[in-house]
Amino acid sequence: MAPLHPIGIFDSGYGGLTVFKEIERFLPGYDYIYLGDNARVPYGNRSFETVHEFTWQCVRMLFDMGCPLVILACNTASAKALRTIQQRDLPGYDAQKRVLGVIRPTSEIIGQYTESRHVGIFATRGTVVSESYVIEIEKFFPDIKVHQVACPMWVPLIENNEHLNNGADYFVKKYIDELLSLSPDIDAIILACTHYPLLLDKIRDYLPNHIRVIVQGEIVAGSLQDYLQRHPEMNARLTDTGTRKFYTTDDPVDFDAKAGLFLGHSIVSGHADLG
Ligand code: DGL
Repeated sequence: MAPLHPIGIFDSGYGGLTVFKEIERFLPGYDYIYLGDNARVPYGNRSFETVHEFTWQCVRMLFDMGCPLVILACNTASAKALRTIQQRDLPGYDAQKRVLGVIRPTSEIIGQYTESRHVGIFATRGTVVSESYVIEIEKFFPDIKVHQVACPMWVPLIENNEHLNNGADYFVKKYIDELLSLSPDIDAIILACTHYPLLLDKIRDYLPNHIRVIVQGEIVAGSLQDYLQRHPEMNARLTDTGTRKFYTTDDPVDFDAKAGLFLGHSIVSGHADLG
């Protein structure tokens, strides 16, 4: 059998599955490998050095599994590790490989979603502290003012499957109140963590109706489709036999049970050994 050259999708845990779901819908023909670093999630409160070390290790695992292209379906990894991987690590490792993130595709289209030009960001502490959204959005839309709130409790609630229970409401309302207190003019909010779409219904319940909530999956999928059209040399290196493989650095049985919630169908994953 000819070796596969899948698109690799990486996240610190389950969150990237919300992006993978849309990528798979837009581009069903390609082979894919998803890797979740559930053994070390959450990344959100970790230092730049640690997020880079963990992310680069997982990206190399995906390269070793045959992926020429890896999508960091994680805002925290995109904010804290992507630039170093692209500029420092890849040239010395294999200059033909590519790693792409989720912050730029989201930033470059945000102008379509706001009339007031005040945009809110819900993200992990790491993404907020990196100021990546402020910097990226400024490049495309200098007239937009960005207001950020870190939501450190949301990923643990989701990873522990507590996000639909009543206890989650307290933390949903708390972070929404914090964000809206920063500006009464916000009319669009980016869920800038790939886990947060799982909280979408509760977030909508506590937000005024006129505020649009932007979920990244479709945006990232559209951007990848566009990237592959603009880079036929990469497209030619990818295999397209429609296979999907899932790996977790933690317990696969646990991963399979929860991954179903994110994807809406069951999967069988394997264990990826961090060594
Ligand atoms: N899903 C990740 C993101 O998009 C973060 C989760 C974590 O804190 O590890 O930022």
